[in-house]
Amino acid sequence: MEKRQRWSSRTIFVFAAIGSAAGLGNAWRFPYQAASNGGGAFLIPYFIALITAGIPLLILEFAIGHKFQAGAPTAMSKIKKGWEWLGWWPILISFIIVTYYSVIMAWVFDYLWYSLTTAWGNAPQDFFLNKVLHISSGPGELGGFSLPVIIGLIIAWIAIYWTIRDGTKSVGKVVKWTVPLPLAMLGILVIRGITLEGAVEGLNFYLDPDFSKLLDPKVWVAAYGQIFFSLSLAFGVMIAYASYLPKKSDITNNAIITALSNCGISFLSGFAVFSTIGYMAVQKGAPVAEVAGSGGVGLAFWVYPEAINLLPFGNALFALVFFIMLLTLGIDSAFSLVEGVVAGLSDKYSWNKKKTTKLVIGIGFIVSLLYATKGGLYWLDIVDRYINNFNVVTVALLEALLIGWGFKSKKLREYVNPISEVKLGPWFDILLKVISPLMLAIILVWNVIQEII
Ligand code: PFF
Repeated sequence: MEKRQRWSSRTIFVFAAIGSAAGLGNAWRFPYQAASNGGGAFLIPYFIALITAGIPLLILEFAIGHKFQAGAPTAMSKIKKGWEWLGWWPILISFIIVTYYSVIMAWVFDYLWYSLTTAWGNAPQDFFLNKVLHISSGPGELGGFSLPVIIGLIIAWIAIYWTIRDGTKSVGKVVKWTVPLPLAMLGILVIRGITLEGAVEGLNFYLDPDFSKLLDPKVWVAAYGQIFFSLSLAFGVMIAYASYLPKKSDITNNAIITALSNCGISFLSGFAVFSTIGYMAVQKGAPVAEVAGSGGVGLAFWVYPEAINLLPFGNALFALVFFIMLLTLGIDSAFSLVEGVVAGLSDKYSWNKKKTTKLVIGIGFIVSLLYATKGGLYWLDIVDRYINNFNVVTVALLEALLIGWGFKSKKLREYVNPISEVKLGPWFDILLKVISPLMLAIILVWNVIQEII
């Protein structure tokens, strides 16, 4: 049995957790969720979701990782015999996600290069889809590979391997950079953005509150959904990370710091994104809604690059800043997913961790090649939708139920309180046993209905 690794300090653990939580979802998902679900008013359900479900489940994942000193499958089987599968399920999800998250990282690596000359020119969408991806006309037509994507993919997987090769030790060295750096980049983009003409129009689009939306259940579903994805909950990752904490570690405080920092990054990203898009709208003489697109891949690879093209000076520089931000935001989310899988396997089967890392990365690379084919983007969309809408929500729901009722949330509190600064009262039981599962069940049913009709 190998000796369990430990984080070198509390800060490094919190950095690693924030690094996992703050990813592409903060930059390209949150701002659009807010804009289309009530603007500033969205912050209300968002914070309610954070307090009633996000932070409680993060505390839960940190606590069981810390208590059982193991990845998700082993931890789950120790809670209740026969529940090991509930640990494997998120591990499988993580593995599937990282196979396409790595491809997005590959594109970002390519775009660091393209930024130097703003190679996308005046037609960034055409450049991305046709010159970089060489996209086919549908998912059935896989065709050959795109060379730039393959090169980016090799770099992305090497970067992932290099970061987690020595577990907590090497991860610690990397997160010292990948947490502050995107913040610095974000700061630059926010300042550049809000000093542009038209920024106010963009920010109005982002935050102008529409309180009537709060009566729409869709908005609440969006808020809870965003919180789970954003905090990397129900992926086995936070359990694995917390399993490397030393015995005396504060659980609640670490969870609160991680959650609040993550949400702050999301909120700030909206300023960078929409102020710049507001400027683009003014330049093009079009309404913000028309030029903003719908976030995600489109925002990163053609909407924002197009806006950058229109800047009065320093286009290549701001492009570089933007893609460094995406890279450093995303890469620690990517390697945390791999680390969750590696911890799950090596803890369960007592496999050598280094060899397990190589194995997972080797298989991950091969699977990710699917998305580097000419039909890859279609597959990415399909897989992403099914994984996030159904699997993650179901795992989170079962996790809250199993631990809230099976392991007993009171027992969890008794474990957490002596080592933590912020004490959990009986109110925590209500959040974990009733509110979180109820909201998750509603989201699940909602998503299923949406899929059927
Ligand atoms: N939280 C990341 C984001 O918002 O982009 C995505 C993610 C990373 C989800 C790691 C799950 C995970 F385990």
